[in-house]
Amino acid sequence: MSGPKKLFIKTYGCQMNVYDSERMAETLAGQGYVTTETAEDADMVLLNTCHIREKAAEKVYSDLGRLRPLKQANPDLKIGVAGCVAQAEGEEILRRMPLVDLVVGPQSYHRLPELVQAPGRVVDTDMPAETKFDHLPPRKAPRGPTAFLTVQEGCDKFCAFCVVPYTRGAEVSRPVDRLLDEARDLAGRGVREITLLGQNVNAYHGAGPDGPWSLARLIGALAGIEGLARIRYTTSHPNDMADDLIAAHGEQPKLMPYLHLPVQSGSDRILKAMNRKHTADQYLRLVERIRAARPDILLTSDFIVAFPGETEADFQATLDLISAVGFGAAYSFKYSARPGTPAAERPDLPAEVADDRLQRLQALINALAQAAQEAMLGREVGVLYERAGRLPGQMVGKSDHLHAVHVVDPQGRPGDLVRVRIAATAPHSLAGTRLAG
Ligand code: 5AD
Ligand code: SF4
Repeated sequence: MSGPKKLFIKTYGCQMNVYDSERMAETLAGQGYVTTETAEDADMVLLNTCHIREKAAEKVYSDLGRLRPLKQANPDLKIGVAGCVAQAEGEEILRRMPLVDLVVGPQSYHRLPELVQAPGRVVDTDMPAETKFDHLPPRKAPRGPTAFLTVQEGCDKFCAFCVVPYTRGAEVSRPVDRLLDEARDLAGRGVREITLLGQNVNAYHGAGPDGPWSLARLIGALAGIEGLARIRYTTSHPNDMADDLIAAHGEQPKLMPYLHLPVQSGSDRILKAMNRKHTADQYLRLVERIRAARPDILLTSDFIVAFPGETEADFQATLDLISAVGFGAAYSFKYSARPGTPAAERPDLPAEVADDRLQRLQALINALAQAAQEAMLGREVGVLYERAGRLPGQMVGKSDHLHAVHVVDPQGRPGDLVRVRIAATAPHSLAGTRLAG
């Protein structure tokens, strides 16, 4: 065999999958695999999949179909399906797709080294009691000045539409000491910004030296790590926005003024049918408290339109809530029935209704996002450079509020945290000039 074996990983879905894909690559590095950018020259292809909506899940099967000629040309090519489709469909994937060698769920990928060596086709979708994090190798050098750090996984909320409690399992928080070690290691390798990840990140309650720690306490400890300049976290549930976390937004300068706080709908009737366990008014009052702690915070959210039973009046209530909060951005989706979830039993709304509502909701969100960008004009913001831009001497980075910012700065390097005066807005980015100091 000539040279190292090549691994191609395709990541679908959320940021947690991005973290997991990096960790899978690190796990397989111990077996002599190096990552490559295309499936064509790979010895192993891993699809790290997402099951959140039907479209995302079905995409995996069409991608697998496209790998067929590669497998025919090279029968030694190993093809694996990882992530949430693997968890949800397990053996079914092997039945449907004879070219797949390996199916591994999100809680068992630390076993990849054994699984790739196993003879025949294998499925591992166990949710072991021990956490996979205890078995993963140390982090390798990340590519840029920002990194994800999974601090919590799984969900006990059981929203009526959502597969996550089934695919990722019950809520588990990683212990504080492990997270501080991983964060110190990242900072030592040049990482300046860490985004703490969890499906329910603000429900974090990992074991600390003196009992369970809240997310706010964890953020406080991370803020003490030398070299780390910025901390973010995502995704949060409104009911877990604890007082100490809200206070941290006012008190902890390294915690960025940005919060992704999905609300899904502005109608109490639909929120109830979704099993969200809060009302629109409770959400609005929570937003007031967060803004009292950090007035310039930029809020973003997720929305589902055309949830079963959603009337035009319910939808209007969602638009009203969006206008009332003034979100800086949002992800929005047409409801997609997922097998095994309670809502899947209820009748879908007509596709035209869903299309129309999604379009109207996105028009409103886009206008608000544009307004949020324009509000930055003339302001001085912090920008962390992430990479060189396309123009000569240009750097691209993110502002404190997570806007993409372009700056012409020939001296700039990835990892520099600079002050910038915003001078122009484009549809999805800002531009400005670097300030001295
Ligand atoms: N259909 C459409 N959107 C969904 N989401 C979760 N489940 C579904 C579903 N069945 C959306 C929610 C969630 C985001 C990650 O995906 O808005 O916050
Ligand atoms: Fe998709 Fe959710 Fe699984 Fe992430 S956790 S891959 S968003 S289903």
